[in-house]
Amino acid sequence: MGDLDAVVHGASEVVTAAPDDPLLDADTGAVAVVDGRVAAVGPTDAVTREYPPENAATAVDASGRAVLPGFVDSHTHALFAGDRSDEFAAKLRGRTYQDILAEGGGILRTVDAVRAADDDELVAGLRDRLDTMLAHGTTTVEVKSGYGLDRATELRMLDAIARADERHPVDVVPTFMGAHAVPGGTDADAYVERVVTEQIPAVAQQGVARFCDVFCEADVFSVAQSRRVLDAGRDHGLVPKVHAEEFTRLGGAQLAADLGAASADHLLHATADDAEALAAAGVVPVLLPGTAFALGADYADPDRFSEAGTRPAVATDLNPNCHAPSMGFAVALACSGMGMAPLDAVVAATRRGADALALDDGTGTLTAAAPGDLLILDAPSHVHVPYTPGVTVVETVLKRGAVVA
Ligand code: NIG
Ligand code: FE
Repeated sequence: MGDLDAVVHGASEVVTAAPDDPLLDADTGAVAVVDGRVAAVGPTDAVTREYPPENAATAVDASGRAVLPGFVDSHTHALFAGDRSDEFAAKLRGRTYQDILAEGGGILRTVDAVRAADDDELVAGLRDRLDTMLAHGTTTVEVKSGYGLDRATELRMLDAIARADERHPVDVVPTFMGAHAVPGGTDADAYVERVVTEQIPAVAQQGVARFCDVFCEADVFSVAQSRRVLDAGRDHGLVPKVHAEEFTRLGGAQLAADLGAASADHLLHATADDAEALAAAGVVPVLLPGTAFALGADYADPDRFSEAGTRPAVATDLNPNCHAPSMGFAVALACSGMGMAPLDAVVAATRRGADALALDDGTGTLTAAAPGDLLILDAPSHVHVPYTPGVTVVETVLKRGAVVA
C-alpha cells in the first residue's frame, strides 16, 4: 500500500455523488485516501478495519457530520480587478446589464481595470478569491480570461491564472475567453478576426488554456461569429464552451450541440428543443443561479434539462456582475430559487461540474480512485448546505487527502 493520507470515519452521511448511488447506504460512513486518491468508501467498520485511522497522516472523527466531495465550480470569471458595485446599485434603480455594457461599462470597465493592473496584483487578487472559495468548499474551479480583449492582456490573464494555480491548493482549469465582449471602437467582425488570427494561436502555442468560450449574445457575438471563434479554438486544441441564451435566445445552445461543446452555460432562455439538442449531443447544461439572482432575472428551469434526459451542473459564475464566490450559496439558490432537490443540487455542484470540465478521473465524486478532495460539514447532512445559506457549513476541506482549510 502507498501512503495512507487520511481516514475520515463515523460520518452521519457520505455523499458519493456517484451516478447510481449518490448517497452511501450505511449507519456511519468512512472514506480512506491513499496517495491522494480515494481508496475506500463504505461503512466505518469495514473501511477502518482495512485502513486503521491510527495509521493515517490525518484521521478525522466525523461523528454527526456529513462528508461530501469538494465542490467543482465549473464557470467563473474569478480573475478581475476594479469595483463595479455602483453598477449593481444602478441596476437596482432600473438600468440594465446591456445598457451598461453598451455605454462602455460592465465587462469593458473591468477590461480597463485589468489592463491597468500589474501581474502581481492580478495573481494576488485571484489567490484571495481562491482562498474564499476554498473556505466555502470549492476544490476545483474553472477560471476564464476575457477581461483583456487583446493578445497581450489575454495572455497576461492566463499567465496569472497559471501562477495562482501553482501556489494554491485549489485546482484551477483555465479557459480562454477573448470573445467575451467587443472592445470599444471596434467592429465585431474585425475583433473576431483578431481573436482568431492573433489570440487563439498564441494561447495554443503557450499551452495555457484547456477551453475556448464565447459570449454568444445579441449585440455581442452572433452565432456565426461564435462558431468562427470556437472552430478556430478547436483547430488549436481548445475544447468549446458557450455562454448561451443568457439575455436572449440567440441559438448558442444549438451551436454548442452542433460543435459537441463541453458545456452550454446560463441557458435562462433555453427552450425544450435546446435542452433536447444538448442532451442528445452530450453537452452539459451549466446553470448559474447567482447571475439570475444578481440581475433580478428569472431562473433557468432545471426540469427542462432533466425532462430532456440530461442533468445540469450548477456553478457560481463569480464575476464583478455576480459577486458571489460560494458554491453553497449557488446550491441554495438552485434549491430555493430553481426548485432542485438538495441531493440533485449537490451532485450538480460536484460530479456534473467535473463533467462540464471534461474531468474524467472521478473528480467531483467519492468513488474508487477519485481525487481525495472532500468536505466535512459542521452539519449532519448535505441538506444543510442549501438550508443554511449566507454562511458556510463547510468545516474542514481535504485536497488530495491533506487538510487545506
Ligand atoms: O457569465 N455574460 C457574460 N459574462 C459574464 C459576466 C461578466 C461581467 O459582467 O463581467 C457572465 O455573466
Ligand atoms: Fe460567465
